[in-house]
Amino acid sequence: MKIIQTIEELQEIRKSISSSVGFVPTMGALHDGHISLIKQARSENDIVIVSIFVNPTQFLKGEDLDKYPKKIEADSKICELCKVNYLFLPQISTMYGEDEVLVKAPNIKSYTLEGERRPGHFDGVLQVVLKLFGLTKPNRAYFGKKDAQQLALIKQMVENLFLGIDIIECEIKRESDGLALSSRNVYLTAEQRSDALAISKSLHAAAAIIGKKEFDCHVIKEHMQTIMSQLDVEYIAFVNRQFEEIQTIELKNSIILVAVKVGNTRLIDNIWI
Ligand code: PAJ
Repeated sequence: MKIIQTIEELQEIRKSISSSVGFVPTMGALHDGHISLIKQARSENDIVIVSIFVNPTQFLKGEDLDKYPKKIEADSKICELCKVNYLFLPQISTMYGEDEVLVKAPNIKSYTLEGERRPGHFDGVLQVVLKLFGLTKPNRAYFGKKDAQQLALIKQMVENLFLGIDIIECEIKRESDGLALSSRNVYLTAEQRSDALAISKSLHAAAAIIGKKEFDCHVIKEHMQTIMSQLDVEYIAFVNRQFEEIQTIELKNSIILVAVKVGNTRLIDNIWI
């Protein structure tokens, strides 16, 4: 595995590759969720590029940019074991200049849910992903369903800007007790971690009720609220795959999303129905 830190080197290497490239963008502190994306990329492409970059433009003031976990040595070992070909580790000054062309996420998808709670967040995500796509020019790029709204926006960007990249949607990886893997889980105390299990429990309960043909989102939401009654729930939302709000579950076209604050840590999770 080769570690790349400069734009010039990455561009040079990319020019020399004529076979298929799979790209996995991350912010590091790699866990089994990231690893599953990397493994899928490994199995579907000749060359795999992973990036680790804690992108400042997607963090709001007061968020955890400065304390975002950094584990570069462990991360590069993981990438090496996963047979990644190139690990791109840029600095902020490598990625951003002073007066930049900005990317703006479309209103309908970006000003609800995460976008409403974190205004400007998705503009920053799209900006950095577009830059990374421009550098790596992948045939396929891998994103987790865990960040469902991010995934929907990236798919729309690829479509709107005619980027011609296959966006591969990857399943959510969970701990054996159901907690969705997240780099932010390290912030949780043992007690908070155990409280946080109510999130995945509520989503699985929702799936179970839907399995019994209860499709009314209002009724499902009440069940979920009861399960998460001890938590500080920011939202429980029901959308179709286009991210339009729904009142009734449509099988194979619905996503139930949850955002919760556990102490100072914000956790998101969802289930695709
Ligand atoms: P990061 O949070 O590091 O996540 C990188 C990728 O891993 C994303 O596609 C995310 O959805 C996926 N992922 C995270 N947890 C997962 C889990 N439990 N199961 C499956 N996939 C999971 O998302 C970002 O970074 C950034 O916004 C980025 C796209 C890199 C742009 O800066």
